[in-house]
Amino acid sequence: MPTASFWPRTHTCGALRIDDEGADVTLNGWVESQRAMGGLMFVQIRDRYGVTQVVIDQAEGVSEALFDVAKSLRNEFVIAVRGVVRGRDDKQRRGGVGDIELVCRDLQLVTRSEALPITLEGKAAASEELRLKYRYLDLRRPNLQNKLMLRHQVTLATRNYFDEMGFLDVETPILTKSTPEGARDYLVPSRVHPGEFYALPQSPQIFKQILMLSGYDRYMQIARCFRDEDLRADRQPEFTQVDIEMAFTTQDILFPIIEKWVASVFKQFKGIDLQLPIPRLTYASVLEHYGVDRPDLRFGLKMATVNDVVAATEAAPLRGALDLEDGCVKALWVPCDPAALSRKKMDALTEIAKQFGLGGLLWGKVDGDNVSGAIAKFLSAEERAAIVGRLSELNGTDPSAPGVLMLAAARVGQVNDALSRIRVAVAKELELIEEGVFAFGWVVDFPLFGWSEDEERWDPLHHPFTAPIPEHMGMVESAPGEVISDAYDLVCNGYELGGGSIRIHDPGVQASIFRAIGLTEEEAEHKFGFLLEALRYGTPPHGGMAFGLDRIVMLLAGTDAIRDVIAFPKTTAASCLMTNAPSTVATEQLDELSIATKLRG
Ligand code: AMO
Repeated sequence: MPTASFWPRTHTCGALRIDDEGADVTLNGWVESQRAMGGLMFVQIRDRYGVTQVVIDQAEGVSEALFDVAKSLRNEFVIAVRGVVRGRDDKQRRGGVGDIELVCRDLQLVTRSEALPITLEGKAAASEELRLKYRYLDLRRPNLQNKLMLRHQVTLATRNYFDEMGFLDVETPILTKSTPEGARDYLVPSRVHPGEFYALPQSPQIFKQILMLSGYDRYMQIARCFRDEDLRADRQPEFTQVDIEMAFTTQDILFPIIEKWVASVFKQFKGIDLQLPIPRLTYASVLEHYGVDRPDLRFGLKMATVNDVVAATEAAPLRGALDLEDGCVKALWVPCDPAALSRKKMDALTEIAKQFGLGGLLWGKVDGDNVSGAIAKFLSAEERAAIVGRLSELNGTDPSAPGVLMLAAARVGQVNDALSRIRVAVAKELELIEEGVFAFGWVVDFPLFGWSEDEERWDPLHHPFTAPIPEHMGMVESAPGEVISDAYDLVCNGYELGGGSIRIHDPGVQASIFRAIGLTEEEAEHKFGFLLEALRYGTPPHGGMAFGLDRIVMLLAGTDAIRDVIAFPKTTAASCLMTNAPSTVATEQLDELSIATKLRG
């Protein structure tokens, strides 16, 4: 057996306690800091478990030669230390490993480090770009290490939970055929089949459905998914799903299984008792009251359409919106001390409205009969009272309290986009969002299709395998815009954590969906022929859902970007600054793949 080139550790740097006093131990780790005072040195040694203080003291018999080695130490050198555990002076004890120090008997410099290009101490000072380039160093920061350890624990708890519930972990292919989830595919060229491509899975959707008809009635996978789409803080081009599918299921069978898992995770990692069952809200109601299908339910400020109240208005901004085919006037009533929302703050909210194509935000401060701003000009006293009354009732607040009334008037989509953000901005401004609260909701009754202006056709709102509710089964082709689907999302604090649906298990209905979204029979056959055939051989009713593991860990870790909980994330331009991927490849490699690149302008 080869001997080790270093002294292997007996303990980690976070393990020793006051009970270990007097023990002979060996630690391995990185130098976090060092400080010399005459013949005495303090070195902090760090690994992912913690930091132990090492005392190198000539008065304790450390030789001059060894002391010289200690003095040559710099931050991030890798060392091995042998010594004896000693309790720190009472005054200096800080609990845990902070109660002890290691009196060095011998020291080994294992590897040196050059000066780091980014600092690791304190709050991250370097730019995001530099930190991503030196991700391997940034990952040494306890902050990131704790997040990745949390991710491991959440994944483990999740696997264990679904195992206990009888779910089988089955791996599905990465080199596959397009699985549509609404994004572009990442393609992989085939060498053996020139001119042909695999697609990386946007999700394991089709495979998990196939597993249901193959008889694996409860499936789960921690699955890597790939989507070429516009990125933002909660989206990465490759990400991880907790992917679930069940045969013989309905919403009422599936939801409690999911809720118990979510509750157990939030209990274990946050100590929070979630109130079950999680409330179910319809898509129509969340759009009406929150303007978005992933509402932040931690606070009220529900809004409402008031077209009926202002139906007779002659005020130009309101009239203009009402006369549009899909125009609307929506109101947000914020009961507060009107002084809390200064002119400057209202200007910032108006800017948000303008970003979404609105001419502005109509607003005014209301305190009894005292009314200011555009609201005073454009609304009659009766209209104003009716609007404030409606919103106060909706939110359970006192209609006579003072506050700020805001109206947005434009096309309904623009109004919702703008007001949903304004609602959140106001809540942040007025500190209405309580820290440490996780407000979950199921969003149900999504429309099956949305109209795609660009492509001038119906597009599945979820994916094309989602079933209509049984009552709407016959309307798929005759009235596609009115069909409600058996789809659902789980939302929390303004994030969509997961989504899923009951699937189509009848090949005839599946074919009719493909027709409704404008696929010709040949296209449907080319893309999904194997699925349409498979559905013909005894398919059980089935359904499931998938969660963004990264988003769940992000919430549990208390951060607002999933890159913080992914070891090697990509930038919003989908590149890896550490490896420089994507990158060009040698011409020979392209030739082998029968590929010629043609760069556009
Ligand atoms: P969906 O497309 O809604 O459904 O995705 C499920 C969940 O995956 C997460 N997610 C992402 N996380 C990080 N980066 C991304 N780019 C990204 N895209 C999605 C979200 C989302 O709620 N096959 C279906 C599920 C099903 O029907 O069972 C699907 O993938 O948290």
